[in-house]
Amino acid sequence: MMFPTTSRKEFFIIKPSENPVDIVQLRGEKFREIYELIRKIVKHQFQKQISNGIRGFLLHGEVGTGKTTMVKALARDISSDLYFVDGADIARGLYGQSEERISDLFNEANKKSKSIILIDDAESVFPTRDWQKGQSWHVAQNNVFFHKLDDVNSAKTIVILTTNRYDLIDKAIKDRLCSLEIPQPDTQTLIDIASSKCFELGMQSDRITKIISQNPKDYTSIRAVEKLVMQEYIKSI
Ligand SMILES: Nc1ncnc2c1ncn2[C@@H]1O[C@H](COP(=O)(O)OP(=O)(O)OP(=O)(O)O)[C@@H](O)[C@H]1O
Ligand SMILES: [Mg+2]
Repeated sequence: MMFPTTSRKEFFIIKPSENPVDIVQLRGEKFREIYELIRKIVKHQFQKQISNGIRGFLLHGEVGTGKTTMVKALARDISSDLYFVDGADIARGLYGQSEERISDLFNEANKKSKSIILIDDAESVFPTRDWQKGQSWHVAQNNVFFHKLDDVNSAKTIVILTTNRYDLIDKAIKDRLCSLEIPQPDTQTLIDIASSKCFELGMQSDRITKIISQNPKDYTSIRAVEKLVMQEYIKSI
């Protein structure tokens, strides 16, 4: 039987022209503050050609707080290619080969004049040594990652990891990256997000605003609010 083959060199790359995530559509004062801080640092390093600066960030926080979205918005904003990698991608080069895949990733990104490497849900890619229970390929893989990270040229590449399991991230990674916590949005921000989603769907937002403000404990995350909007949207058709 023939199986489809994909080149091991292929990575999922989002080009700025194909990247739909625009920072102007994203809400939340704290969210925007953290975003602006990262953007300022990356722009500074890229423009001033600081090759030995901050090489990466570790964005952590609850499920659905916008960690992945923030990195996509940044890539579009600074017109950079985004290398999007997750656990499944690294596992494609099973066992010993995952080291090669990590190495290829950094080499590929390094060829571009500007690149962001996003390692999404990083705890599944680089788990802590305690968690991996002696699986030696993970140790080798993490070591390749540390080595490659230390070699990153911060004048043209930035590495961003996201996780909602900060506790499972290897300490050596935490030591190398700048950790930033993405907070859960407050109720007013969630109402703003819901209102703009309603607008996109051609719906009135009054009813949804009322539901959220009367039951703030049931709506503490962006995903919960998005679900509510979808339910109301279906009812309205
Ligand atoms: N600041 C924001 N304003 C409006 N919508 C947002 C914002 N941040 C995220 N969203 C929306 O919220 C949803 C969840 O965002 P995202 O997937 O980036 O969260 P996450 O923190 O990466 O979640 P997970 O921990 O599950 O990976 C997406 O539909 C996204 O479009
Ligand atoms: Mg995510």
